[in-house]
Amino acid sequence: MKTVITYGTFDLLHYGHINLLRRAKELGDYLIVALSTDEFNWNEKQKKCYFTYKQRKQLLEAIRYVDLVIPEKSWEQKVSDVREFNVDTFVIGDDWKGKFDFLQNEGVEVVYLSRTPDISTTQIKKDLYNIN
Ligand code: CTP
Repeated sequence: MKTVITYGTFDLLHYGHINLLRRAKELGDYLIVALSTDEFNWNEKQKKCYFTYKQRKQLLEAIRYVDLVIPEKSWEQKVSDVREFNVDTFVIGDDWKGKFDFLQNEGVEVVYLSRTPDISTTQIKKDLYNIN
């Protein structure tokens, strides 16, 4: 069985997220999503989520491509995660290109997928703010 892992915030779930998750699952048999906690988002990414961790987790668990959701609490946990879950492939959007190549030292294949154009959580927030 080939295990794939991806990381992210997935707030205001949108079709760019679904495209990413579908293509991630196609790379293997079992897809783990490490979902950024509210604290990690705020402290490390200066992002305030609209949906709580619990709500974002519930949405991800309802997606057919996702097999397991675990919390992402630190930047450093990737190495221990790939060891603990015997991960074969790490995948993330190409906005992170090159940033996680060090996981190859763990024997993990690292894949950067092209982002879906013209959609992001930030863009949705901006667009809604600008509607009367
Ligand atoms: N992603 C993607 N295509 C998009 C938006 C996101 O492939 N149009 C991918 C990202 O590259 C990442 C995952 O989805 O691998 C989760 O991204 P996240 O940062 O949670 O979503 P964004 O919409 O980019 O959120 P933000 O605007 O807050 O950065």
